[in-house]
Amino acid sequence: MSLIKNKKFTSVEDVADINALVQKALQYKANPFADVALGVNKRIGLLFLNPSLRTRLSTQIAAKNLGMEAIVFNVDKEGWKLEFEEGAIMSGNTSEHVKDAAPILGSYFDILCIRTFPSLVNREDDYSELYISEFIKYCGRPVISLESSTLHPLQSLTDVITITEQLQNTPLGVGGKPKIVLTWAPHVKALPQCVSNSFSQWINAWDGKGEFVIAHPEHYELAEQFTKGATITHNQDEALKDADFVYVKNWSTYNDYGKIYENDPSWMLTLDKLKQTNNAKVMHCLPVRRNVELSDEVLDSAHSIVTQEAGNRVWAAQAVISEFL
Ligand code: CP
Repeated sequence: MSLIKNKKFTSVEDVADINALVQKALQYKANPFADVALGVNKRIGLLFLNPSLRTRLSTQIAAKNLGMEAIVFNVDKEGWKLEFEEGAIMSGNTSEHVKDAAPILGSYFDILCIRTFPSLVNREDDYSELYISEFIKYCGRPVISLESSTLHPLQSLTDVITITEQLQNTPLGVGGKPKIVLTWAPHVKALPQCVSNSFSQWINAWDGKGEFVIAHPEHYELAEQFTKGATITHNQDEALKDADFVYVKNWSTYNDYGKIYENDPSWMLTLDKLKQTNNAKVMHCLPVRRNVELSDEVLDSAHSIVTQEAGNRVWAAQAVISEFL
């Protein structure tokens, strides 16, 4: 049975069995070349409308581990500027409509992956996921999201893999399920809500969690469609108490869309704050602004598992791609 539904991987809703997908990824971590013949003579296209380090390289490595050829196309820098609006009169700065470009890409590749970011200007447009939806509609191939306007599913699958792996190495005791905290952190730029939305969506859907708490300052509520089921607090200390995993991330406001209301540095995680936790492991999707979003003392301590987490991006991508192969 396929572990991914709907010929796309854009959200946890496309996953038939989270734990089975996690175990598949961990099997690839133990034996990266187990399925090296699976993708022979197949080609995967990785389209980027925005920059990337981890997503780009880990997905290429994952494809290579499966015997595939991976071709990266930086659409924003190397391609024609794409138009996504149906019925657009293309007299502006867009040169090619997605309904023309996507089927051509579909004829070149067996699997297509695409990264887009939100505008952070128009919430309705961003949350309608116009770019990735139009691409899926016209390309005629399985599509893997490399991050969309509202979600980052490969990152979130990685995060569940990383937590599962930690618990295998250091179980919490009989029947113990982890307390997981997502905490807002300061930043100098207005960032998307994608990673936080996606982490919330996956942790809410995952039966391996115990308690799930989201901590943020007032006015930083995320979209309820992703957070529903979590405990939400404006008190970071209360949230951190007895936490097993602390996921740190900045996001801009959702309600008054795309704004920075405050940048209170006291929300930055410190070793002192971590004393309240159950010797918590600290996670972050990266890139991270050191000493703004997360302190050196935490990032360079044994609490931090951000490097292991980023390494696991390969196995998440490999598990997903292999399902489509
Ligand atoms: N976490 C993540 O998606 O990193 P990149 O933006 O470098 O791909």
